[in-house]
Amino acid sequence: MLEALKPQPEDQILMLMDQFRADTRADKIDLGVGVYRNSQGVTPVMGAVKSAERQLWESQTTKGYTSLIGDPAFVDAMRDLVIGDAVDPARLAGAASVGGTGAIRLGLDLARLAAPQATVHIPDPSWPNHRAIVAAIGMPMKTFRYFDADENALDMPGMIADLGAVAAGDVVILHGCCHNPTGSDPTPAQWADIVAALSGTGAVVLVDLAYLGLGDGIEADAAATRMLLAGLPEVIVAVSCSKNFGLYRDRAGVVLVSGQSAAQAALVRANLATLNRLSYSFPADHGARLVEMILADAALRAEWTEELSEMRNRINALRRDLAEALRDAAGSDRFAHFGSQRGMFSRLGATPDEVRRLREDHAIYMVGDGRMNIAGLAKEDIPRLARAIAEVCGQ
Ligand code: LMR
Repeated sequence: MLEALKPQPEDQILMLMDQFRADTRADKIDLGVGVYRNSQGVTPVMGAVKSAERQLWESQTTKGYTSLIGDPAFVDAMRDLVIGDAVDPARLAGAASVGGTGAIRLGLDLARLAAPQATVHIPDPSWPNHRAIVAAIGMPMKTFRYFDADENALDMPGMIADLGAVAAGDVVILHGCCHNPTGSDPTPAQWADIVAALSGTGAVVLVDLAYLGLGDGIEADAAATRMLLAGLPEVIVAVSCSKNFGLYRDRAGVVLVSGQSAAQAALVRANLATLNRLSYSFPADHGARLVEMILADAALRAEWTEELSEMRNRINALRRDLAEALRDAAGSDRFAHFGSQRGMFSRLGATPDEVRRLREDHAIYMVGDGRMNIAGLAKEDIPRLARAIAEVCGQ
């Protein structure tokens, strides 16, 4: 039977991780997978997480099962963090997931249970795993216009036209903040236009919220999600704790769903529980419990908020420094947008051949579409990176 298996397409981001590890050049620069690194080049365990782990080690008396939706206190804490009072909590249901990817998968599986024939609309461009997951679960998909690569700006007229034409019951994936891979998010006024375009369609939005707090701060980064929730009757929010709590390998995430009534929310919760049961029964608890402890304890929460601000400030400073170094090296403002874009990623606007030359000739690793993880950059590497980009990508 197993001989019938076909090779699977490789994930370009994870393939790049392996290529980088295998490269023996001492001065190699990793701008591939989206992980934050501090000034020592380390993806640290956050201090608040360490403290919570210590407390948990002391106080935890059982590793007995939680519930199929995970620890309800974690789900509620994430609801309060992400949604605040944008929606009546009675209309909300949630479940812990295996990281942000698990939350997206859970959200899409829920949509498929409700409407197997619904088309999933994905921004062009988007995180490649969106397409891969939708293909794997066999839902029809389409892209909608999001970004104009020539202008390095959102294609708002294209996006509004495409979203306005989405069919009732279809699913629209939107990045809540820190768009992956472009780093370009709509302004609040543009988000209002997006909500208005979608509000007559009957489409269900799935918000991918993987970088909350890494753009302009928690409240600012949550604003678009809250606007969507307040303006549309049914919204699914897939939240990751990988980046903002630095819990990458612990796989903490949550899916939060707003239905049209309390009865609908109860039905959603039961379906999420069943979906978890069918995949792995109980979602992993360790990372989720740490998040819940941090959010519930004033001192831990203050420490985490401060650490998150440091991470965000570092990323935004790296963005400004890189934009400046590129202006000097390339003698043009062609890369000025790196300074104003937000989150971990920006796209270089390089051809696949230029990306290959940067990798082969300069040991600089970025995703094939020119996506760079600026959050992984070392300040000392900026001059060399800027010179290499200017040399390979010309003026
Ligand atoms: C990324 O886009 O690099 C991250 O979200 C990590 C991943 O799983 O792809």
